[in-house]
Amino acid sequence: MFTIKNHLEIENGHLTIGGVDAVEIVKRYGSPLYVTNEERVRKNFRSYQDAFPEADLYYAAKANGNLTILKIMAEEGAGADVFSDGELYMALLAGIPKKKILFNGNSKSDSELLMAVMTGVRVSVDSFDELRTLSSIAKSEGRVVDIAFRVNPDVSPQTHPKIATGLKTSKFGVPHEEVIRAYKEALDIPGINPVGIHCHIGSQILNITPFAEAMNKMMDLVEQVSRLGVKLEFVDIGSGLGIPYEKGIRVPSTADLANLILPIFNERCVAAGINPKLILEPGRYILADSTVLLTTVNTMKEAAKKFVGIDAGFNLLIRPTMYDSYHYVVVANKADAVAVDTYTIVGPICETGDILANDRELPQIEKGDIVALLDAGAYGFSMSSQYNGRTRCAEVLVQKGDVDVIRKAETYDDLLSNQVIPARFL
Ligand code: LLP
Repeated sequence: MFTIKNHLEIENGHLTIGGVDAVEIVKRYGSPLYVTNEERVRKNFRSYQDAFPEADLYYAAKANGNLTILKIMAEEGAGADVFSDGELYMALLAGIPKKKILFNGNSKSDSELLMAVMTGVRVSVDSFDELRTLSSIAKSEGRVVDIAFRVNPDVSPQTHPKIATGLKTSKFGVPHEEVIRAYKEALDIPGINPVGIHCHIGSQILNITPFAEAMNKMMDLVEQVSRLGVKLEFVDIGSGLGIPYEKGIRVPSTADLANLILPIFNERCVAAGINPKLILEPGRYILADSTVLLTTVNTMKEAAKKFVGIDAGFNLLIRPTMYDSYHYVVVANKADAVAVDTYTIVGPICETGDILANDRELPQIEKGDIVALLDAGAYGFSMSSQYNGRTRCAEVLVQKGDVDVIRKAETYDDLLSNQVIPARFL
């Protein structure tokens, strides 16, 4: 037995995850299949918490919103960053305390704001307009809602443009030059209690220096906001730490991030005479490498390239199509065989961009082989769709050799669910 990547091992030529043979698990639960190792999820959470022992971690539910995953997060003591009414519903259902839920979003509906007010969670307010709407909703319900402002710090995170969120031109947050005016207004209008400040600069960040820039800009604002008389209970610096999708590349650790931003945070809090809680909102770091997407080879084709047609496409893992993301590939039933050829792994979707992995050196592949796409736990299933009339696959959770289904595979009924046939078509 030897390790292939992180917690993933090879035993008797087969990929194993959480003590379970990938080939056997596909035989039993079908293909494609998302397989998550519970132990790895917990380990990732704890190592993040160890690096930031004083901070609260608000798990970013968008990364993987399965209820069982949220329950694991609740057990670990996480809060939640939620971005919709549905994520809020799920986080509360999982038992995450309402005071540790921050409702983010740049375009929340009035009914979402009402839900935030009635459930008593905190809201990260994204604009002046939203502040005024939230105030009138809270006032008419006779409630006061705890808020932070989402700051647009105008910091480049040096990541894929589609996942940079704190650029001046990004749709998120209040421009940092207007933040003081926003807090002044928040102090004046009814139903609003400003208690925090929030930003998030982007995702899959591999050079962490922009976090220092963001932290400094945030602490400039924290000082000014405190001088207005706002008692800040928390400073939420968001998240975005990248992970090594490509085997062997060195990436900054949670400790590197802590060593960079904690001194700035701590020193500047002391200087300002304040004691807010630091919050971080990791998603990818906790879930990504806990999960593999197991797929089966439907067909092989030699054309301009050697194409491997598998049974999952961007309907189940959209990251390569959407962000040109790299996911490491293992042929799970030949996991210790040597690479002999160059293959391009494609899905069954009727789109040219449905490519999961380009030009990979892999062992001889044939129909029926099990192709594993690694690091699929964050923004994998949560971004899936039924495009092309494809039912979504099952998700299982493995833990020290045991397997639990945490989502059943969809059936044709799920393709029809909520569709209504007008009487004249019956
Ligand atoms: N907090 C906020 C406000 C966010 O917008 C995000 C991610 C997170 C936390 C979590 O960031 P993380 O720790 O996962 O980097 N679908 C893309 C990633 C989109 C991230 C959106 N926001 C991908 O697959 O790479």
